[in-house]
Amino acid sequence: MHLKIAMLGYGNVARALARLLLRKTETLQRDYDLTFSITGIATRSRGSAINPQGLDITEALRVVDSGDKLDMLHQGPPLADTFAFIEACPADLIMEATWLNPQTGQPATDYVRAALQAGRHVVTANKGPVAFAYRELKELARQRNLGFFFESTVMDGAPVLAIGREALLATTVERVRGVLNSTTNYILDSLEQGVSFEAAVKQTQDMGIAEADPTNDLEGWDATVKTVVLANVLMGADLRPADVDRTGITGVTTDDAQAALAAGERIKLLCEAVREGDQVRASVRPTRLPLSDPLSQVNKTSSAVTFETDTLHHVTMIEGDTDPTTTAYGMLVDMINIARGRHLDPRT
Ligand SMILES: NC(=O)c1ccc[n+]([C@@H]2O[C@H](COP(=O)([O-])OP(=O)(O)OC[C@H]3O[C@@H](n4cnc5c(N)ncnc54)[C@H](OP(=O)(O)O)[C@@H]3O)[C@@H](O)[C@H]2O)c1
Repeated sequence: MHLKIAMLGYGNVARALARLLLRKTETLQRDYDLTFSITGIATRSRGSAINPQGLDITEALRVVDSGDKLDMLHQGPPLADTFAFIEACPADLIMEATWLNPQTGQPATDYVRAALQAGRHVVTANKGPVAFAYRELKELARQRNLGFFFESTVMDGAPVLAIGREALLATTVERVRGVLNSTTNYILDSLEQGVSFEAAVKQTQDMGIAEADPTNDLEGWDATVKTVVLANVLMGADLRPADVDRTGITGVTTDDAQAALAAGERIKLLCEAVREGDQVRASVRPTRLPLSDPLSQVNKTSSAVTFETDTLHHVTMIEGDTDPTTTAYGMLVDMINIARGRHLDPRT
């Protein structure tokens, strides 16, 4: 099978994906009989390019790395905007890795909807479309026999959603608990070591983990959006981020973290979704966890999730050392699953 791929966004994740695709080209062909070409790339400020014969990926990476515009690689009429790109780019699959507004899920939700309406499979690393419009987009994809996969939205390439889809069969997920935001986890670790809150935030910014404006992490928005994805996808809920009882970590002090540690506990930004009758209740809040809880052992930028089901009491997955390539890997797996027709299984 040959897949023509369009990329929406060409930032850290999408460029890591481009490099990973180059690295895995032989593996894809040998093990999955899968070849691909990248027929287009759209960005907000670095230009856009379509080439129906396939762009030279190495050249596209060089253009962006050197600060030039992708427009120099474009063939065809000018593109008015990203929607025009989605319509015009000859692609079977759109890999979406644009910016996330955690309060609205836009503009990515509209891009994913437009891509599915234009008959393209969609793989996204962006939590917005899943947290704000999962049911609608999944149904749109199902009606058109298209794939809509998003493994990288929670814990990057670690197969958290695939476990629910492929392995947790004939079971009811009663509760999901997780430590899902690297920036806040790193800061809470630093507080335990006596670092002030402000210095810990600055550390994460200097390391490139936190954004210049870290509000979405510190106020728990990123963790909230991930919790909604888990609740909606694995527990059949229909929550939105505003439904989550959310408290960030800005009220946690060095003294709080050290007092917890002295008492044999650690403060973690705990994400939780619990089934209560036919409802699912979700929360994100700093919580003291005993050291016996596997989630208390998640250090620095690692993340983890624990499933409790009616057939498995506790199953925990921990992912360490994340970077844009680990996110890109989840997108690559989604792409392989679409090529394998996994989206045609009515239970996925
Ligand atoms: N970084 C990670 O490890 C990670 C992990 C899990 C999930 N994610 C998710 O993956 C997505 C991408 O993350 P990233 O780190 O790659 O972000 P990034 O480096 O900021 O890249 C975002 C890309 O999207 C483009 N973009 C923004 N608005 C656009 C628009 N309206 N139309 C077309 N392109 C647009 C940007 O264009 P310009 O190049 O012109 O700015 C940029 O190329 C985000 O949704 C993020 O939440 C990231």
